[in-house]
Amino acid sequence: MKTYIETYGCQMNEYDSEIIRTVLRDNKYEILDQIDGAEVVLLNTCAIRENAHQKIFHRLNHLRALKKKGSVKVIGVLGCMAQSLRKDLAEFSPVVDVVAGPDSYKRLPSLLNSARETGSKGFDFSLSEWETYSDISPKREVGTNAWIAIMRGCDNFCTFCVVPYTRGRERSRSPESIVSETERVVSEGFRQVTLLGQNVNSYKYEDYDFADLMKMVGDVPGLRRVRFTSPHPKDFPRKLLHLIADHPKLCKQIHMPLQAGSDTVLERMNRTYTKQEFYDLVDDIRDILPGVSLTTDIICGFSGESDKDFEDTVEVVERVRFDSAFIFKYSERKNTIASRKHPDDVPEEKKTERTVRLNDIQRRISLERNEEEIGKTFEVMIEQPSKKNPDEWMGRNDQNKGVVFHAPQYKIGDIVRVKITKAGTNTLIGDLAEGSASPELCRVSYNDQLFQ
Ligand code: 5AD
Ligand code: SF4
Repeated sequence: MKTYIETYGCQMNEYDSEIIRTVLRDNKYEILDQIDGAEVVLLNTCAIRENAHQKIFHRLNHLRALKKKGSVKVIGVLGCMAQSLRKDLAEFSPVVDVVAGPDSYKRLPSLLNSARETGSKGFDFSLSEWETYSDISPKREVGTNAWIAIMRGCDNFCTFCVVPYTRGRERSRSPESIVSETERVVSEGFRQVTLLGQNVNSYKYEDYDFADLMKMVGDVPGLRRVRFTSPHPKDFPRKLLHLIADHPKLCKQIHMPLQAGSDTVLERMNRTYTKQEFYDLVDDIRDILPGVSLTTDIICGFSGESDKDFEDTVEVVERVRFDSAFIFKYSERKNTIASRKHPDDVPEEKKTERTVRLNDIQRRISLERNEEEIGKTFEVMIEQPSKKNPDEWMGRNDQNKGVVFHAPQYKIGDIVRVKITKAGTNTLIGDLAEGSASPELCRVSYNDQLFQ
């Protein structure tokens, strides 16, 4: 069966799509990289905000037409929207044949086979307390970075967030399975891994915590860089900061979601920290890790957010000076605690106004912070040709900032030294600097595929 998978949403979904591809290939499905010719189309969906939902509904309407024409035989909706589709299924039943939540991917071949052979609908919404897919080794596209999920689910129940309902309870993979997946991706030519979890500092497996895991992964021979996303400010371990400071492979980059700056809003969000505690954490991070880059997520217009509350968020953004931020308008999700207890009462125009204002402030700060890098020299790993000028490379420094430079003698995966000469809001520009290893020495140990 020729199958095409479309992925929406976060990196965890990208990772899951690799798991799904692997499960299906092992069951004799052929995976296509375009929709043309596909008999089975699977949408791996996101439910975090309403616009993510809307995208899928539009897509399903389009697929309905393809199905009528007869080219597409089976349509599946996977991932985070599965739970919310439960109630809307009647409406979508003519177009959707299979629905499978994030913990049901091992059942996909049998659900798809029955849909194909007997036309029966197959739905599996169940959430598991133990499924981590540790026994599946996803086959990735060749590149420099491999994403590795270390845990699934979330038990924090931030009141705005649907993830605890769509992805279920928190569970961690064994450190052995994560280390062996890291060894495997290194042997395939990847030079960097990014450890993924909804809340990585809750990682716990027997006596191992997240810092123990980071050390074990960082010690894998041949690996050059380890990143992670996302931690939670409420219990970020100081021990991890010291480890990052001392371990050359662990990158000085932390994505620390703030969500809001006002204590009353933070409390209503059930974030369990105050503005002052966030400041104290940032001070510790910057004391222990000079030169670290700090990024964040912020929601504008959560229930009851007054002008004064929003000014508190502006104050935090101005004082912390994040390197960059993802800024979202609050989008009420069904079944969340906020949808029951805290009405979505900030008018849409206010949400837009606040989002635009905060984005303007953050863009100014991002540019200023990038300008502070001019004159410094960084180790940069080449990732891909620059989008604007394919004769130049785009790579990333330890802090995960994109750096564009000209060095045709080097290739993807090489780590070189680059001196920054110019800065934009999102990118640094630089020149190859003295002290870079020769191109031959750069790539002694990696996969030939990368350098064809
Ligand atoms: N509305 C808007 N943004 C949200 N996020 C999570 N839930 C919502 C919501 N209901 C944001 C948070 C989170 C990021 C992944 O998405 O900022 O950190
Ligand atoms: Fe959602 Fe909060 Fe869990 Fe993040 S920590 S996934 S925002 S409930």
